[in-house]
Amino acid sequence: MIPLRLSEIVAITGGEQHGHDVLVEGAVVTDSRECGPGSLYVARVGEHADGHDFVPGARAAGAVAVLGTRVVDDGPTVVVADVQEAFAALARGVVDRSPDLTVIGITGSSGKTSTKDLLAAVLRPVAETVAPVGSYNSEVGVPLTVCRVTPTTRFLVAEMGADGEGHIAYLTRIAPPQIGVVLNVGRAHLGEFGSVEAIARTKSEMVQALAPDGLAVLNADDPTVLAMRDKTLAPVVTVGRSADADVRATDVQVDDLGRASFVVVTPDGRAEVRLRLLGEHHIGNALSVVAAARHLGVSLADIGAALSTAEAASRWRMEMHDLPDGATLVNDAYNANPDSMAAALRALARMGAGGRRTVAVLGTMRELGDDAEAEHQAVGALAVECGIDRLVVVGPDAQGIVTGARAAGATDAATVSVPDVDAAYDLLRSDRRSGDVILLKSSRDSGLRFLGDRVVADVESTHTEGAR
Ligand SMILES: Nc1ncnc2c1ncn2[C@@H]1O[C@H](COP(=O)(O)OP(=O)(O)O)[C@@H](O)[C@H]1O
Ligand SMILES: [Mg+2]
Repeated sequence: MIPLRLSEIVAITGGEQHGHDVLVEGAVVTDSRECGPGSLYVARVGEHADGHDFVPGARAAGAVAVLGTRVVDDGPTVVVADVQEAFAALARGVVDRSPDLTVIGITGSSGKTSTKDLLAAVLRPVAETVAPVGSYNSEVGVPLTVCRVTPTTRFLVAEMGADGEGHIAYLTRIAPPQIGVVLNVGRAHLGEFGSVEAIARTKSEMVQALAPDGLAVLNADDPTVLAMRDKTLAPVVTVGRSADADVRATDVQVDDLGRASFVVVTPDGRAEVRLRLLGEHHIGNALSVVAAARHLGVSLADIGAALSTAEAASRWRMEMHDLPDGATLVNDAYNANPDSMAAALRALARMGAGGRRTVAVLGTMRELGDDAEAEHQAVGALAVECGIDRLVVVGPDAQGIVTGARAAGATDAATVSVPDVDAAYDLLRSDRRSGDVILLKSSRDSGLRFLGDRVVADVESTHTEGAR
């Protein structure tokens, strides 16, 4: 973090100072185990644990100060009424004290993490850039990320997620963006929001937060996103495959591994991009990165080069493993909603186009509310339409996929239903053939990402032993 004295943190948060006025120069953390010398430990009270219980551990690990609702020891502490509000205020204080910092906010139903990783890969060679670890995009993740800003940081890439109206607005007050990117409006978290309109209103909070000298980057291929152009005071750059997008992709080609290459065309030039990320859906993410980075002064040639070398940076997103037995496993089971399911199935189909057998191991998409059954059935139908050779449907809540696939003409043999992840593991063991392309996809809590890790570890150890 930028160095702040305890008394400054007190002033920023409106808290009460206990202990002497130390200088906080280290990391700001909410997990006591991550404390180091000079740290500020933020003691949150969660569902399962009270962070104040871990203050001694935090101190032992080097924390010089604590932010909490009560004094636990006689060490330097800022006592506040509400730790969340104080943490948000502290993060905002860091942004306000960083005059050379530009904040780029990214939201959308799918692709936020992939896009922030791509944008960070483009900006890092230009200047010091802070971007979230993994998918830190909540009222805790955003302040944690903001507090990693140092006096020499120039770019802050902030992923902003929401599961209710007002959430994006809240996050933009913590880290007011100069550039706001809206990728798409889909059906992620539909259960919590209630309607797609409510999701659209929430995502539009990103562009409503922009000042007239900012920039809104909007997806021209998503009509709901494009309509947000009327909701912002900032100039708008549209991106997409559409011919009238300001920044667009032409000459799109997709290789046998499902990786897209294209020419990006902008008002001031064009560049070739050859993505290493799997799936055509990353074209839109990459175009948003082009628009944001151009606005920040990065040359189109440098952007194209950085996009073409960027590897998947966060785990379990179309993560490809070439197994020693000749099969390829794609672990995309970090999360799932109808749109990212469709993107993954299309990528799988593309990978099978050279004659390889395609196997989709699919689990539940959570948080879809009343639409859950219909959306699972639609996934089954899409798998058949994409020509996926074998469907393995995992868990009782995902059975709509089987129903949908059979209704769309899948044979019983091509559609297997298993009760849980262990049964899926056994099936993948007995049924795998050399050359198979296997996709694993489900919501996070359905656990398929660990199934993927287990299969990879298992095959690799068998082969290592065999080689000895
Ligand atoms: N633009 C997109 N449209 C549809 N699916 C996408 C898009 N970008 C990424 N995905 C897929 O969505 C899933 C989540 O991607 P991620 O980048 O983690 O998004 P988020 O952070 O918004 O959850 C992955 O399976 C990924 O392949
Ligand atoms: Mg994310």
